[in-house]
Amino acid sequence: MITLKVLKYPDINLKKKAENVKIIDTNIKKLAKNMIETMLYNNGIGLAATQVNVQKKIIVINITSFIRPLIIINPKIIYKKGYSFELEGCLSFPNIFIKVKRNKIIKIKFIDINGKNNILTTDNLLSICLQHEIDHLNGITLYDKMSPLKKKLLEKF
Ligand code: CO
Repeated sequence: MITLKVLKYPDINLKKKAENVKIIDTNIKKLAKNMIETMLYNNGIGLAATQVNVQKKIIVINITSFIRPLIIINPKIIYKKGYSFELEGCLSFPNIFIKVKRNKIIKIKFIDINGKNNILTTDNLLSICLQHEIDHLNGITLYDKMSPLKKKLLEKF
């Protein structure tokens, strides 16, 4: 088992944008597996490759304990509707929780670890988690979602 180092705010690498995965080779499969180990080890429900300093569009998600963790490659939001406003945490921001405005329903297309095209529509915690992790792939973190006052408080630490 290999756990990877999770970048923490204010690491500037968290601002880097990820690129599409072109070929799912053994390195990508190994990375996804290690990301899952890292997420579970840190009790996270989601992790983006950006957080382990790899600029590739890979997300792992572990919302429910009874379904195997999801591996989502090259996600793209193709539909969104409505709004939700829920507390979010992040492994890159330990012990910080802020309310973030998200879309309620999203539909994404992505490829799975076998290279198969998939479409997923969701309106619950998975929807919020996906939007959070897709933000990471675009270099956007909880910091960017904070009010000016919260940003100031965070910068003091
Ligand atoms: Co996060």
